[in-house]
Amino acid sequence: MGRIVTAGSKSYKDVISIMKRQAERLRYPLKIYDLGGLGEGISGEFEANERQEQESRKKTGFMPCRFKPAIIRRELKIGSPGELIFLLDADAIPRHRIDEVDTGDYDVGVTIRKKGENEGKPDFHISGYVNAGVLFLYNNKAAQSFVDLWIAKTNDPGIEGDQHAINEILIEHGISWDTKRMMVGDTRIRCFPTSIYNFYYSQGGDTARIIHRKNKETNWVVRHFKDNIGHWRPKFSSPMQAIHAVRDIVKDKKVCVLGVGTGSALIGFGKYAQEVTAVEINPVFLEHTRMLTDFEIIQGDFRTDPIPDADVYYIWIDAKDMEPIIPKLQNTILIGRRTTTNPERYKKWMDEADEVRAAEGIDFEIIVIRR
Ligand SMILES: C[S@@+](CC[C@H](N)C(=O)[O-])C[C@H]1O[C@@H](n2cnc3c(N)ncnc32)[C@H](O)[C@@H]1O
Repeated sequence: MGRIVTAGSKSYKDVISIMKRQAERLRYPLKIYDLGGLGEGISGEFEANERQEQESRKKTGFMPCRFKPAIIRRELKIGSPGELIFLLDADAIPRHRIDEVDTGDYDVGVTIRKKGENEGKPDFHISGYVNAGVLFLYNNKAAQSFVDLWIAKTNDPGIEGDQHAINEILIEHGISWDTKRMMVGDTRIRCFPTSIYNFYYSQGGDTARIIHRKNKETNWVVRHFKDNIGHWRPKFSSPMQAIHAVRDIVKDKKVCVLGVGTGSALIGFGKYAQEVTAVEINPVFLEHTRMLTDFEIIQGDFRTDPIPDADVYYIWIDAKDMEPIIPKLQNTILIGRRTTTNPERYKKWMDEADEVRAAEGIDFEIIVIRR
């Protein structure tokens, strides 16, 4: 079964909300520690000094996260004997249930990087073999003694935090790139691949089960899967100013976004409309945007599959791909368009348009057709 324990300060609010949504979807109990300003979870016991952490990160490239071993020690103390705890960074998000790691034949599961990944880099002594963003621990004496060792090592002078410490311990006990299982004293360690259980690489993540944001960036979930999107570009989402410019048209209406992309139109309309839904063909966009919002998104092809009833439809795809779909829509249609694309291609819809809404300072406009 297993349960998730995570922690974050106020700058982690966005990923904590994704974590909550995924934990609920995957039916994992979730415990959150508030490290300062998060506004939910257990607060006051462990604090992250954000400024100090960031300064340390600038120096070494890694967050020291000294609170992490202390939190898991507390959880092992108060938890149920034998239970499995997933200690996840707030931005290490499970995509699927991970029942397959509950094999009961180890005490502590760590995630080992791809062979040779950081070797030769100046920070290899800190980043090491193991990324400490994902750990699996059975609540037993062997895991507890490993955590005690981890805490002691984290406090050693010259150790730059939790990840450095765990790597030092594992190196002292002989970890190598090929290690699958090893012993640290009486603790049985099992190594799971980061490529599946702690995926922080920029592409090729379709088989990943836990995805980990490495740097703060929008669309990081999509970035992991960009191999499968092909045509995706970072600016592939409607600017919020454009959505804002048509807010009166959607006010108290039911809106359906045809093609959800990275979700910005859906989230934007969600602020003004009475109800919003979306249809999306690409499973990567679908998964990404389902992580970000609770709005209903239907997987399908809006050219051939049934489309939800709505008062207003919003669409922004290639002009020629719109040809078969626009005539089928009975109610008001909003068509997104980058003003840098050739207006000739939109002539048909411009001729039919009741108005065109633009917001100042952006190269994006919305063609309004009322039916
Ligand atoms: C340019 S993006 C726009 C995303 C979003 N509406 C926005 O404005 O931010 C177009 C989206 O439409 C989706 N799409 C294209 N053709 C589709 C089809 N026939 N059925 C469903 N979705 C489609 C694409 O996968 C992509 O996510």
